Amino acid sequence: MLLGPPGAGKGTQAHRLQDRFDGVALISTGDIFRQNLRQGTPLGEEAKRYMDAGELVPDDVVVRMVSDALADQPGGFILDGFPRTVAQADALESELERSSRPLTGVLALALDDEAAVKRLAGRRTCSSCQRTYNVELHPPRREGVCDACGGELVQRDDDQELTVRRRLDVYHASTAPLVEFYRERGLLREVDADGSEDEVTSRALDALGETADRH
Ligand code: AP5
Repeated sequence: MLLGPPGAGKGTQAHRLQDRFDGVALISTGDIFRQNLRQGTPLGEEAKRYMDAGELVPDDVVVRMVSDALADQPGGFILDGFPRTVAQADALESELERSSRPLTGVLALALDDEAAVKRLAGRRTCSSCQRTYNVELHPPRREGVCDACGGELVQRDDDQELTVRRRLDVYHASTAPLVEFYRERGLLREVDADGSEDEVTSRALDALGETADRH
């Protein structure tokens, strides 16, 4: 599981870790909402109201959605952006206990708020595979085009500075308490997210007990 404030690099590292571990599914709640929004589903419409305001989508909606996603993925998985409240973490714990699939590690990516704001202002996301780039810090090889799949790169509606600052406030109030929640369970692995993408991946793998050159 990847935990951390908006802009810490959860999505970036989730894709990198998925590339290293064969057959592991990636479940990103933000990506599922955005996919629903593009498809014009009622779930997407409902989520948009909260996302555009920088608020959290209600727990019952998210928990049901992740439960369905986990049921579709019988093997290993990486969670990005879930859980985000203690209620979601409790629901996940019960769900994983029921299916005998315990969590093996929680990577808490740490980054200060001003660095996060800077990263999100320059973020561009592939509309096809959801990989992220940054116009200043990590530009694609061809402007506006995803290196991995050739998809179109777009800017997210919720990356306006005011919305980003609200998302950071919501993170500190509702999600940061999960750091203690998982520390108490012996699952927490803290990772300094200030560094290059390669450095952060290497720290994440070390924290998980893997070596960076395993694959
Ligand atoms: P979500 O899509 O999950 O957004 P978030 O948590 O705010 O996180 P971000 O995607 O903004 O950042 P990230 O940490 O993934 O960073 P990234 O790798 O992209 O959620 C969006 C909304 O959906 C929420 O606000 C909420 O409304 C709703 N939602 C989702 N899950 C929910 C839940 N469980 N409950 C309720 N509501 C929910 O990187 C950011 C930028 O930095 C990129 O440009 C990247 O290229 C760059 N970058 C990454 N790493 C580095 C590095 N090491 N050095 C330099 N640049 C870097």
